[in-house]
Amino acid sequence: MAEKIIILDFGSQYTQLIGRSLREFNVYCEIIPFNKQIEMANDVKGIILSGSPFSVNEKDHPKIDFAGFGNLPVLGICYGAQLMAKAFGGTVEKSDKREYGRSHLHLEKKSLLLDDVNQDSNVWMSHSDTITKIPDGFSITGSTPQIPVAAFEIADQGKKFFGLQFHPEVYHSEEGKKILKNFLTKICHCKCDWTPEHFINDTVSHIKNQVGNGEVIMALSGGVDSTVAAVLIHKAIGNRLHGIFVDHGLLRRNEFEQVLHSYKNMGLNVKGVNASEQFYTKLKGHSEPELKRKIIGGTFIEVFDKEARSLKGIEFLGQGTIYPDVIESVSVHGPSVTIKSHHNVGGLPAHMNLKLIEPLRMLFKDEVRRVGTELGIPSEILNRHPFPGPGLAIRILGEVTPDKVDILQRADDIFITELQKSGLYATVWQAGVILLPVKSVGVMGDERTYESTVALRAVTSVDGMTADWAKLDYDFLGHVSNEIINRVKGVNRVVFDISSKPPATIEWE
Ligand code: XMP
Repeated sequence: MAEKIIILDFGSQYTQLIGRSLREFNVYCEIIPFNKQIEMANDVKGIILSGSPFSVNEKDHPKIDFAGFGNLPVLGICYGAQLMAKAFGGTVEKSDKREYGRSHLHLEKKSLLLDDVNQDSNVWMSHSDTITKIPDGFSITGSTPQIPVAAFEIADQGKKFFGLQFHPEVYHSEEGKKILKNFLTKICHCKCDWTPEHFINDTVSHIKNQVGNGEVIMALSGGVDSTVAAVLIHKAIGNRLHGIFVDHGLLRRNEFEQVLHSYKNMGLNVKGVNASEQFYTKLKGHSEPELKRKIIGGTFIEVFDKEARSLKGIEFLGQGTIYPDVIESVSVHGPSVTIKSHHNVGGLPAHMNLKLIEPLRMLFKDEVRRVGTELGIPSEILNRHPFPGPGLAIRILGEVTPDKVDILQRADDIFITELQKSGLYATVWQAGVILLPVKSVGVMGDERTYESTVALRAVTSVDGMTADWAKLDYDFLGHVSNEIINRVKGVNRVVFDISSKPPATIEWE
């Protein structure tokens, strides 16, 4: 088992960033809600306490028992540092003003945590409480012009507690990565050997043990996660992995054939199932977005279930679930509301009774790509934009018909091809075209036209949770507009979506 760092989450917006930063140093870490029991096995090398929107002076603030960490090194960040200060007898008080944004760290004393860090550097602050007195025996190792205690620690007689008032995990903390690396290597003595290669070897042998002589079925979508997961499972059990790639008739132009071809080239045992007619029939007459999503999800399960029944002796279901889908978040604002019912495979029927194989369950998206590269998966699959499970159905506003799908596929193909040709594809996080239920008057040659409008959508984002519209060059947009209007029959107007998320979303439905 790989050595690991436990990150206890108190609900900070930056907790996942801490995890991603540690993984960059090839150290395995797990994010766990602060109130969950942790198993203190030998492989745990250190603990990190995250920030939090709570104040340690609030009545029911989140707490932990420091004695439970034994002799392990503990790094508290922001709220974590304040909790540490308070637990050992220091004082935390409300500051006169909330300190948010860039500040300037000045080193006060030699410290292993701050080893090799510049004497003065910018750091990122986000707090409204401040530590006014550190516990006895601790010393201050860093300060800023606003606060005397920006970094403090005790590192002797078996005690290894470190507190940082700023956020080393945030990009704007110039020396943040170095500080986290010091914690990992100089304090926790991590070997930093959790490389993609290490992960692949461990995972493949784990799958072999789990599956034995069994058979696995898995739905593939052409996306990064399901492909990387399938290649890992295939490496472990070969053709006993049965991939199913369903064409719901809502994929991009020629995508079904292209992706199926790539799968075959990778040696995967995948069956392509063309179920377009079944999906179109079910969608006929429906225009309400949530209903369309539910119909697609339900039909998908029907198709998949039928394929599974035709195979004998399947016991396992492979899935490309990744870490952000499974991290239990600490709820700060109560249960979240459903904005859209995401994710097409919204649960398989219980009668299928399959055991899950989810090899990517503990990986962040960028790590999935690193593993995919190590596995030799072609870059056109690894670097693809995300694409929604319900496909073009949620980019055709209103009722979906085969004719509309055809128009949208043609327009979308032009936009994506032009992005690729001009080298812009990799600079946007996701792009696509939306077919609007709006007809307008135009003139082509000498003739009046009355045809559809399409919207181009391109966004920049890190994880799809928030997004900004991509500032594409006007000449480029003009060229794409001309190409679409000239080449796609049925479209006479192109507009560009300049909304960010929030308040808009990336998809239109
Ligand atoms: P929104 O529209 O909510 O989308 O801003 C965020 C990201 O999720 C994708 N998306 C989906 N992916 N099934 C999926 O697998 C879905 O039902 C679904 N709906 C939206 C969307 O393309 C974007 O990347």
